[in-house]
Amino acid sequence: DGYSAAQLFGQGSTYTYDDVIFLPGHIDFGAHEVDLTTNLTKKLRLSTPIVSSPMDTVTEAEMAITMAMMGGLGFLHYNMKLEEQVAQAQKVKRHVPGFVMTPTVLQSSNTIADFEALKASRGVSSVCITEDGRVGSRLVGIVTARDTDFVNDRLTQLGELMTRDVETLSDDVSAEKAMEALKSSKRKSLPVVDSNGNLVRLASRAVCLEEARMPRRGAASTGPDGRLLVGAAVGTRDDDRRRVDALVAATAVDAVILDSSQGDSTYQLDMLAYLKRAHPDLQVVCGNVVTSGQARRLIQGGADALRIGMGSGSICTTQEVCAVGRGQAAAVWQVSRLAASLGVPTIADGGVQNSGHIVKALALGASTVMCGSLFAGTSEAPGEYFVVDGVRVKQYRGMGSLEAMAKGSEARYHSDTQNLKIAQGVSGTVRDKGSIRKTVPFLMQAVRQGFQDLGSRSIPAAHAALAGGVMRVEARSTAAQAEGGIHDMHSFNKVRW
Ligand code: XMP
Repeated sequence: DGYSAAQLFGQGSTYTYDDVIFLPGHIDFGAHEVDLTTNLTKKLRLSTPIVSSPMDTVTEAEMAITMAMMGGLGFLHYNMKLEEQVAQAQKVKRHVPGFVMTPTVLQSSNTIADFEALKASRGVSSVCITEDGRVGSRLVGIVTARDTDFVNDRLTQLGELMTRDVETLSDDVSAEKAMEALKSSKRKSLPVVDSNGNLVRLASRAVCLEEARMPRRGAASTGPDGRLLVGAAVGTRDDDRRRVDALVAATAVDAVILDSSQGDSTYQLDMLAYLKRAHPDLQVVCGNVVTSGQARRLIQGGADALRIGMGSGSICTTQEVCAVGRGQAAAVWQVSRLAASLGVPTIADGGVQNSGHIVKALALGASTVMCGSLFAGTSEAPGEYFVVDGVRVKQYRGMGSLEAMAKGSEARYHSDTQNLKIAQGVSGTVRDKGSIRKTVPFLMQAVRQGFQDLGSRSIPAAHAALAGGVMRVEARSTAAQAEGGIHDMHSFNKVRW
């Protein structure tokens, strides 16, 4: 039944995820036995095959931290100054799982009114008081609602009523030990201080309980030093060389992405050659590519992974503006086939709208998927929520949109900065999707069930089955696609993922 991928994709049509469907295989294992461990690059392994896109409405430190905690990885965007990107990467590298790294802090001269404003805006019930009101300075006390509730003068200074004799934890405390301390002290939080008494982070009952209750997720992505893995996007200009030098020196960033909509260029090959010379341990992701020819040149240049996709993203207009690109399913299959033969992992970037698309991307040969819109609008994405027509939304924009290019991202599109700017993306809003802590585990469980239906216990097993012609595919007609979606219902609960 069906066709091998080589037959299907060799027919002269370009196909994207919705155009293709896999025929089921034989099940002789449970979905929980499916192992989604994968290679992001030649050297970096992840337990969750998903990474967040380096876009300025998707990945800054908070997204990168949470992605790494879930077993994936975040690539920091570079529509910001070098110093800011370094600071974001440092924040990820300094993160200690199980703790609040940026607790709410005030100083003794602040008033009850200041404390109440923070309570209202951040929902905190206590604040640490440090000498100069910052994390990193000496802890002098703690204030909770119990200290302030019955004081009538809201301008009373916190120094007058704070608890000075504070139980603290030392800097080398593990998350498990902190949890035990919280349990026995019956407190909501305990400050962690270094040997000089400076506040460094907070052990929090709420964070510990959330970790414990989280549905099954991959093991956190960490390096040999136990710190979270993080990636960063950069360009290919001379100042981008300095950017990578600084990122490596200050944060030991694990991977960089050479961020371009068309990666097969001498700019990228020159940058790659420089990076391989200057930073031999750094993993370099090249792209984007959609053909074997593009992929071969970058692999020969030393790429450690390839990013696949041109115009497939939800906010992309590249195919319409420039008439260049490829259906994402065809691109993933063709590039991954070549890359696999040369030992290079691929990242299927853009166009992923649901768990089925992730199954398809991985089965077609990708080792990981990269998502923008799926993670935009989550609480970990940069930016504030606002309400449009009664719906809570966050901004999401293409890095080739006029708005993003105005902030400096035009290099990704080889744009002529002197004269006319041609937009290759749009800017808009997406719904509030809650936290990726909830959605990623559900997505991954759905992917495991997809792999079970395919009869593949792992990503390499699926790749081998497809390459060997054992796994069969077909193209879906428009009517078959309609049939595969929801139909003939008067009303239904809209599933967002
Ligand atoms: P999704 O579908 O996940 O796609 O939202 C995210 C990917 O889209 C690419 N990207 C763009 N492509 N114009 C484009 O043609 C743009 O303005 C643009 N911005 C991002 C990028 O590869 C990203 O990971």
